[in-house]
Amino acid sequence: MTLRLSLALAVTLLPMSAAAQEQGTPEHGLDFARKVCAECHLVADEAGLSPRSGVKTFKEIANTPGMSAMAIGAWMQSEHEHMPHILLAPGDLNDVISYIVSLKD
Ligand code: HEC
Repeated sequence: MTLRLSLALAVTLLPMSAAAQEQGTPEHGLDFARKVCAECHLVADEAGLSPRSGVKTFKEIANTPGMSAMAIGAWMQSEHEHMPHILLAPGDLNDVISYIVSLKD
C-alpha cells in the first residue's frame, strides 16, 4: 500500500522535477505569457491589476511567500477550480516559470 503510493507519487513528480531543473529563458516566457496568460493575469513587470478581477498578477504570484519554480510547475500541471488547465510544452513551461520567478522583488 505505502509502496504503491510512493511509486505513484514518484511517477507523477518525476517529469515535474525534471522540467523544473532545466533553465528556461525569461524573455521567451514573457512573450509566451502575453499570448497565453495575459487574458486573465497581468503578466508584465509593472504595477496594476490583472484584466480578470481577483486574479493575481505575475508579480504578486512571484512574491507570494513559499512560491518557487517547483510550486509554479506543480500548479501548472494540475487541475484547478477557476483557472483552465493549460497544457504547455516543457520548453514553454520552463520559460514561463523562469519569467515569473524573475519578477520576485
Ligand atoms: C482564463 C483565465 C486564466 C488564464 C488564461 C491563466 N490563468 Fe492563471 N489563474 C487564473 C485564476 C482564476 C487563478 C486563481 C486560482 C484558482 O484557479 O483558483 C490563477 C492562478 C494562477 C497561479 C497560482 C497563483 C497562486 O498564488 O496560487 C499561477 C502560478 C498561474 N495562475 C499561472 C498562469 C500561467 C503561467 C498562465 C499562462 C500559461 C495562466 N496562469 C493563465 C486564471 C487564468
